[in-house]
Amino acid sequence: MRTDKEKILITGSGLAGLSAALECALNGKESILISSAPSQRAQSVMAEGGINAALDTKGESDSPEEHFQDTLKAGCFLADARAVRGMTEAAPGIVMSLKDMGVCFNLDENGDPDLRNFGGQKKKRTAYAKSDTGKQIMTALTDEVRKYEASGMITRFMNHSFETLLFSDCDRQVCTGCLIRDDYTDEILRFESSAVIIATGGMHGLFGNTTGSRLNTGDAVAELFRLGAEIINPEFIQYHPTTVSSGGKRMLISEAARGEGGRLFAMKESDRWYFMEEKYPELGNLMPRDITAREIWRTGKKYPVFLDMTHLPDDIMENKLSGIVEDCITYLNLNPRKEPIPVEPGIHYFMGGLNAGRNHMTNIQGLFAAGECCGLYHGANRLGGNSLLGAVYGGRMAGKNACDYSEHNTLTAGSDSFYDDLSGKCTISDKDRVLLQNTLNKCMGVVRSEKELQEGLEIIRGIEGDAARLGEALCAAALERRESRGAHFREDYPDTRESFCKSTVLRR
Ligand code: FUM
Repeated sequence: MRTDKEKILITGSGLAGLSAALECALNGKESILISSAPSQRAQSVMAEGGINAALDTKGESDSPEEHFQDTLKAGCFLADARAVRGMTEAAPGIVMSLKDMGVCFNLDENGDPDLRNFGGQKKKRTAYAKSDTGKQIMTALTDEVRKYEASGMITRFMNHSFETLLFSDCDRQVCTGCLIRDDYTDEILRFESSAVIIATGGMHGLFGNTTGSRLNTGDAVAELFRLGAEIINPEFIQYHPTTVSSGGKRMLISEAARGEGGRLFAMKESDRWYFMEEKYPELGNLMPRDITAREIWRTGKKYPVFLDMTHLPDDIMENKLSGIVEDCITYLNLNPRKEPIPVEPGIHYFMGGLNAGRNHMTNIQGLFAAGECCGLYHGANRLGGNSLLGAVYGGRMAGKNACDYSEHNTLTAGSDSFYDDLSGKCTISDKDRVLLQNTLNKCMGVVRSEKELQEGLEIIRGIEGDAARLGEALCAAALERRESRGAHFREDYPDTRESFCKSTVLRR
């Protein structure tokens, strides 16, 4: 066993995990950073469109207050308002610090990060690096982390996966470290640590066919759920309006395309119907994602829906959207400069996740959560551009609070008094995972109904494994929420109900 009792253990090395490790280092705290793959393969690398911050450089009188209001409104008032305020106020400083770190944002004529339009926001607020923003931020942060690796402040274990938690005793109240599996040798390593930060991303593996990385299985969250960690608002799953099927997954066509002027239309007989512009004259193609996804889904049942970028000037296509052009040519054999892209909604982001307080600590003492696995900032629906922001800010907050906690924590077990419950873990079989994925995809679609959710729940209850218990929680939460709110739309309860303006919290 490794006795790293003074250190902080971070599992997941995407944007939230890297930000947490850097924050620990800045606070003089050593950390151990564990991940099943190098950071270059993390989901954060795939984030395209940008990162939100009210920099107010476009003469539109933008402010963190408006960013705060837009975020709460998009989330249908289920996000933690004080946490969101902290995030939106910190956002301009975060973007400038990333620029100072070397992130190659597109710049305006004054040398400030340029800002583009994004869904659900009337003001230009999304800083971007062409259409590869996540990749560029991850590159800069990975380099920054390397400096601390060299000085020994951060120690990395790649190709290692989270297995389970260690506790101070069998009541599982206080987390004192982790068991980690070496992915190549299957050897189990015990790490005692003063705090643990989980940053393992969204629960994409429960559905399979999403825009998310295959590495984001949701297995760590399923294991924590088994151990008593609470899950909040898991029924809220964001369908990105514009995705295309590719290689058994959904390929994202970034909202940046619409932010730069791309238009959605349906081919109605031989006419183009610009249904979003007609129905929502104010924001048109840039309505919040939940509304746009439902409109495309409904319209798509009758007519094929396309995203048209053919009218966009060459300089925009080259300087702002080149990643989209390359991806379409490489993976779809389609040149968006010349022809519209056929699009459908696809699962993109999990607003719900581990239930954490504003200090990012979960209901298990010493266990913190950050990034997409943490259900703190986005409520019932996330604004595009708030995911990268939430990952950096959340990672920093989790890192800072884990440092503070470990300074004052006297409860960490001695090396001879830790407790783990690995024997109670139940892994799902490959066959059952496919059944779970098919069932969840069927009953937790863009539009849901009691009948489908009930049928889904019954099938899932017959599946063994901790991933199935997490899937059951998602389905049960969607069944219980007898209203429509944000990304959760029930055809049998199409209205938003005041009595449901509250979060769902589940404990296994
Ligand atoms: O469309 C996009 O580029 C996605 C951005 C996001 O989810 O924040």
